[in-house]
Amino acid sequence: MLKPNLKEAQKRTRAEVLVKTSEYIVKENLKELGKGKTYFVKTYGCQMNEHDTENIKAILEDMSFTEASVMEEADLILLNTCAIRENAHNKVFGMIGRMKHMKEERPDIMVGICGCMAQEEVVVDEILKKHAWIDIVFGTHNIYNLPNILKEAIDKHSIEVEVPSIEGEIIENIPVKRDSKYKAWVNIMYGCDKFCTYCIVPYTRGKQRSRHPEFIIQEVENLVADGYQEVTLLGQNVNAYGKDLNLNYNMANLLEDVAKTGIARVRFVTSHPWDFTDHMIEIIAKYPNIMPYIHLPLQSGSSRILKLMGRRYTKESYLELFHKLKEALPYSSITTDIIVGFPGETEEDFKETLDVVRTCEYDSAFTFIFSPREGTPASRMKDDTPIEEKERRLQELNQLVNEYAKKANDAYLNRVVPVLIEGISEKDEHKLMGYTDTMKLVNVKGSKDNIGKIVDVKITDVKTWSMDGEIMEK
Ligand code: SAH
Ligand code: SF4
Ligand code: F3S
Repeated sequence: MLKPNLKEAQKRTRAEVLVKTSEYIVKENLKELGKGKTYFVKTYGCQMNEHDTENIKAILEDMSFTEASVMEEADLILLNTCAIRENAHNKVFGMIGRMKHMKEERPDIMVGICGCMAQEEVVVDEILKKHAWIDIVFGTHNIYNLPNILKEAIDKHSIEVEVPSIEGEIIENIPVKRDSKYKAWVNIMYGCDKFCTYCIVPYTRGKQRSRHPEFIIQEVENLVADGYQEVTLLGQNVNAYGKDLNLNYNMANLLEDVAKTGIARVRFVTSHPWDFTDHMIEIIAKYPNIMPYIHLPLQSGSSRILKLMGRRYTKESYLELFHKLKEALPYSSITTDIIVGFPGETEEDFKETLDVVRTCEYDSAFTFIFSPREGTPASRMKDDTPIEEKERRLQELNQLVNEYAKKANDAYLNRVVPVLIEGISEKDEHKLMGYTDTMKLVNVKGSKDNIGKIVDVKITDVKTWSMDGEIMEK
């Protein structure tokens, strides 16, 4: 048993990051472990978690498991969890309750917990105390070791907890079963060293480790050869890419090299405002295949709160960057993340956030009420704003955000925009769906032959969160 440890998780040393290219091995005797059995992975977290799930699926298939279409039928169920806010945490514990019933009815099934919650000491303690019927718990650092962890649990018929709280390595040869044939996630870095005072991620994902550029470019070149149209470069702070590598190679260089592979669309998330350089803006403007879409989390419009959050920028410097981006990329869409009700946030502070939203007129925003996370500095700060007041602020903010989202979409009416058609629309089976270069969801009338292609779409109707359009036949 290896339990996560909060103290170890927050440690940062200058130790060199090991890049391991032959760590993932499925032993001969495990290659048929899952023969005749099915698996189901439920994912709760961000894009990084979704991409981890793509790795987990491929690993299970290397052991001859096949994917079940519904959880209720699977022999092995994994919950790939997220720790970012209390409600994500509660959802997982709710699901664990359901799993317990399923396991009582079908004692042969196996249940596993992985992802960011598995990296939390408090969570693993609770699992051991109340849910020791769970079969495996593994973390974000040792996904590659899943075959051995699973075998261990089967052999000893009891819970197998394997969660190292290490700064982290880079494991380069993990297989992947991608959800889409047209767009792909590509990790460019792991972990985070920013330690924003509210955030759990630096504790669950380890220190910032950039992948070496040659591995990233190789992965993108392979995707181009396989017919992929779009890659999204993933990291908690992609703009800080390369700072830990000592190669004199940064995010602007990487964006340029990825653009040069000829892939039709390059996206990247998430951009921390602090590390956004003029060189990056120049490269984004220069290459038409780098999409004019930037997610630029604000978190708060009050410089006082930003300081308490440890964000390292002020309202003024954020706005300066925002205007610079809009000037260089007038056509771009910019979205954001905002937290209301951070400890000590006053009505004045909140008004400043609204003020920035009015100035930036975001294309859309993810908005959250502050959620204290065990072990983070903000969870120990005095917080005397009543929850009702926080909810009111969230509502007021959402109303404003929605107004601007609709306004931004209104500008698209009757315009012709490029859309990567991804498949059948969830809303209407007679329609297709896809995203514009600026990351707007469009439900499209047109022939299914267009799936997987980037086509010109005329926008015929706009709503707050989506648009309707029809393909311009050539
Ligand atoms: N690396 C990204 C953020 C990843 S987490 C960045 O720095 O921008 C995604 C979003 O969740 C954050 O932008 C923040 O708005 C929100 N979030 C993170 N921790 C939170 C907490 N403790 N309570 C409420 N929202 C939180
Ligand atoms: Fe969390 Fe801040 Fe790192 Fe983003 S930059 S993952 S908010 S600590
Ligand atoms: Fe959640 Fe972990 Fe992502 S906490 S947001 S799954 S990095």
